[in-house]
Amino acid sequence: MSTPLAGQGVVVTGAGHGIGAALAEAFAAEGARVVVNDLDAEAAERVAARIGGIPAPGDAAGAEGVAALIAAARTALGRIDVYCANAGIAPGGGADAGPSAWAAAWDVNVMAHVRAAELLLPDWLERGEGRFVATVSAAGLLTMLGSAPYAVSKHGALAFAEWLAASYRHRGLRVHAVCPQGVRTRMLADSGPAGQALLAAEALEPADVAAALLHGIESETFLILPHPQVADYYAARAAAPDRWLDAMNHLQQNVEKRNVEKRSVEKRSVEKHIEPHLGEKG
Ligand SMILES: NC(=O)c1ccc[n+]([C@@H]2O[C@H](COP(=O)([O-])OP(=O)(O)OC[C@H]3O[C@@H](n4cnc5c(N)ncnc54)[C@H](O)[C@@H]3O)[C@@H](O)[C@H]2O)c1
Repeated sequence: MSTPLAGQGVVVTGAGHGIGAALAEAFAAEGARVVVNDLDAEAAERVAARIGGIPAPGDAAGAEGVAALIAAARTALGRIDVYCANAGIAPGGGADAGPSAWAAAWDVNVMAHVRAAELLLPDWLERGEGRFVATVSAAGLLTMLGSAPYAVSKHGALAFAEWLAASYRHRGLRVHAVCPQGVRTRMLADSGPAGQALLAAEALEPADVAAALLHGIESETFLILPHPQVADYYAARAAAPDRWLDAMNHLQQNVEKRNVEKRSVEKRSVEKHIEPHLGEKG
């Protein structure tokens, strides 16, 4: 059966792993022709081979990389109907995360979207149609404890997606902001104690996120919330910011407490296992 996505030319950035790979696979299953981008060339090739897509390894964040990707995709597909700005990074830390972490988060999580839109919009506006999918995060609607560069840049990505939709909806541009909480990918595995404590229990599979996006495309919904409870948190944040901040700070205190407990369990375990040997040597 033919679907609206059948035959469409789709680009997915960061599609060698995780959510991007699931998006690429879901679009291909709908009959779309999919360009599979990732910095990890082997992974891009592997996913493309698995789904019958076209590999386009390389950087999808810097100006040169984005231009090369869009040119290669246009050559391969004829035209780009859907662009999924999915590649993302999650550096940890706070105000002290360091200039390179802040710059990288800004570049990959925000400017990659701006640069792609700059190159895609003229053709889309002329044709009167185009679809821009931004993989943002619930962190873009709420926050992400333990990672200020991530929280701030994801707010930026959401702001840009909203701006695109508000400015060009009447000219045929469709925009979706995908905002999951935890998803079982390498990013979640690497997310540190705050990420694990807050996100792991309710984490979804990447395929669940892809299914939510396809559903959102069908219903032409801007905000894609694979975890429906995020809508309540977002509403609570807007309705009563101080109460919401108290709740977030309470979570932060729990994470800190857990870390202290974990460190003390680890210390006891080290003492239990190492001290007898020290005793033998002594
Ligand atoms: N995993 C989660 O819990 C979660 C939750 C909400 C949002 N997200 C978002 O989903 C997106 C995908 O993340 P994921 O969880 O699948 O992580 P992941 O680390 O499994 O995959 C990200 C992919 O992006 C690629 N990538 C990074 N920088 C790139 C660049 N400059 N150019 C091309 N490719 C690049 C990586 O090589 C990797 O394959 C990100 O934008 C992330 O912020 C993830």
